[in-house]
Amino acid sequence: MPDVFPVPETMRARALCSSHASYQAMYEASISDPESFWREQASRIDWMEPFHTVKDVSYASDNVSIQWYLGGKTNASLNCLDRHLATRGDQTALIFEPDEPSDEARHITYGELHADVCRIANVLKKHGVKRGDCVTIYLPMIPEAVASMLACSRIGAVHSVVFAGFSPDALAHRMLDGRSRILITADEGVRGGKRIPLKNNSDRALRSCPDVHDVLVVKRTGGETTWLDGRDYWLHEEAAMVESTCECAEMDAEDPLYILYTSGSTGRPKGLVHTTGGYLVYASLSHRYIFDYQEGDVYWCAADIGWVTGHTYIVYGPLLNGATQILFEGIPTYPEASRYWDVVDRHRVTQFYTAPTAIRALMSKGNKYVDRTDRSSLLILGSVGEPINPEAWKWYHEKVGDGRCPIVDTWWQTETGGILITPLPGATALKPGSASFPFFGIRPEILDAEGNVLEGEAEGVLAIADSWPGQSRTIFGDHARFTEVYFSKFEGKYFTGDGCRRDKDGYYWITGRVDDVINISGHRMGTAEVESALVEHNDVAEAAVVGFPHDIKGQGIYCYVTLNAGVTGDDELRETLIRQVREAIGAFSKPDFVQFAPGLPKTRSGKIMRRILRKIAADDFDDLGDISTLADESVVDDLIRNRRNRH
Ligand code: WT7
Repeated sequence: MPDVFPVPETMRARALCSSHASYQAMYEASISDPESFWREQASRIDWMEPFHTVKDVSYASDNVSIQWYLGGKTNASLNCLDRHLATRGDQTALIFEPDEPSDEARHITYGELHADVCRIANVLKKHGVKRGDCVTIYLPMIPEAVASMLACSRIGAVHSVVFAGFSPDALAHRMLDGRSRILITADEGVRGGKRIPLKNNSDRALRSCPDVHDVLVVKRTGGETTWLDGRDYWLHEEAAMVESTCECAEMDAEDPLYILYTSGSTGRPKGLVHTTGGYLVYASLSHRYIFDYQEGDVYWCAADIGWVTGHTYIVYGPLLNGATQILFEGIPTYPEASRYWDVVDRHRVTQFYTAPTAIRALMSKGNKYVDRTDRSSLLILGSVGEPINPEAWKWYHEKVGDGRCPIVDTWWQTETGGILITPLPGATALKPGSASFPFFGIRPEILDAEGNVLEGEAEGVLAIADSWPGQSRTIFGDHARFTEVYFSKFEGKYFTGDGCRRDKDGYYWITGRVDDVINISGHRMGTAEVESALVEHNDVAEAAVVGFPHDIKGQGIYCYVTLNAGVTGDDELRETLIRQVREAIGAFSKPDFVQFAPGLPKTRSGKIMRRILRKIAADDFDDLGDISTLADESVVDDLIRNRRNRH
């Protein structure tokens, strides 16, 4: 495989940014005078009142305060819908592709989506939702999910979307933490031919959320569900009773738009808060340039709205840019591993954005599922969520894109709100596995452990030296934790938690997390969350969880469990513990392996040395590093012996 893939001429000919020199010029301008750059970019959205100050940011650890477009008033729903009505009211906004391919796709125009959003907004109002209230959304990938999010933003409510793969416990935690008093869910979700009992899950979650007084239920399947009269309402019945117009609330640029929970190194998932003005500008700009979205294109981001990728690159970015896009309910392997490419062909998709784990899963099924499809409409491919290994990159490039489509390997995080490091399809020569260069306005730095800035070719941890409008402002209800996690490690900088290398040509290569966050199929998880689910079991004394390399998922979950004295570990207990984690978090968090460990490697001060556990889980026994600081070195031999015997 060549080391560098030049920009195809056809891409250069159409692209908004069509040479590395023009990228560099625009990048330089954005860095040398950020205020002018972002003042100009602000006109990408409509403002109800102009802002007076572009930026007022402090990254100082004793006062983290991030504000953009101060004084400006706007509304997300207005920008995603109303302002398009005159020019593209009849244009398709969403092509809903249902799980079952024999069910016909549904085209929803901007005009129709606007009416749906207004109705849901009016229903929310009728059910007592006010400006600033948090509305939890626990929905599958159906048009109502997009409409519900925009309905919240329309009336100034804050949405908190919970991925429909999360368990009742995880949903309950998020509703309680966000102080939600209303939930929007569906009777059932449908994925890969299977039904997911979302309403029943919700009812289980609601047992511990007494403040939730109203539940709006989308009828997706008509399947049996539990029901509580006076609390539960069918959304379609409620929507039929209200008007199809609803005024947009005038929101301050810094009013919260949404809360989205994500896992960290320690503790329970934290609710990152994204605000309105700056987030919208960043979503619109990044979507436009990175996917080179142009009139007539059919864009498809195959993520779920339950993750930040769905928020920024399904809901806000594309709709702000008046895009036509696919909303896909299903999974890549149902009914067969050609599903993605069949959908691409059926709707003539031009941009396709997915995660490396999906690419690897499809690659493992063999080429015949790709070869029998056409895919000639594709222009740009995207990757997100984890480092993409060169084999998967190559397969995506050669087999899926027929060697013709640039791959934008986009690095970002829930916290960043939008893509920060990425190629631009018409401008960047690609190196497989590298996210390449910073997007406009982004100042990445590679630091050593002491926080020294490393120049040129270097490897270290990745920090961002200055703010950008899309970044998260705080953790809901816990600004101290926000400061602690992101701004206290390296004074005056945003700490990403990722390791990174810069090569001689200035390309950035993300090397993975440097903290106790693991990445399972692009889903982020804190090892601490899995551990706390394990220790809830009566027989468990202690647990330590690490990630290990997994061919398809990127990382798998490996659990070391110390049982209470007198208890013997067997396969039945293993299964019970695996089920317990699944129930605490969700099916995607199912541990891959539980190893019973008579003892865990600890320092004399009692700190578990995960470095050693990671190596043992990866069958990498030779170079365990310095183990002389361990309180009891013999623990390590026991662990290795058990690992070898798969005990
Ligand atoms: C973590 C953030 C951003 C939306 C999806 C994940 C890893 C993300 C890449 C990439 C290498 C990546 C990082 C990051 N990550 N994109 N292109 N190359 N690593 O969002 O759940 O907040 O996870 O995902 O480790 O810190 P998230």
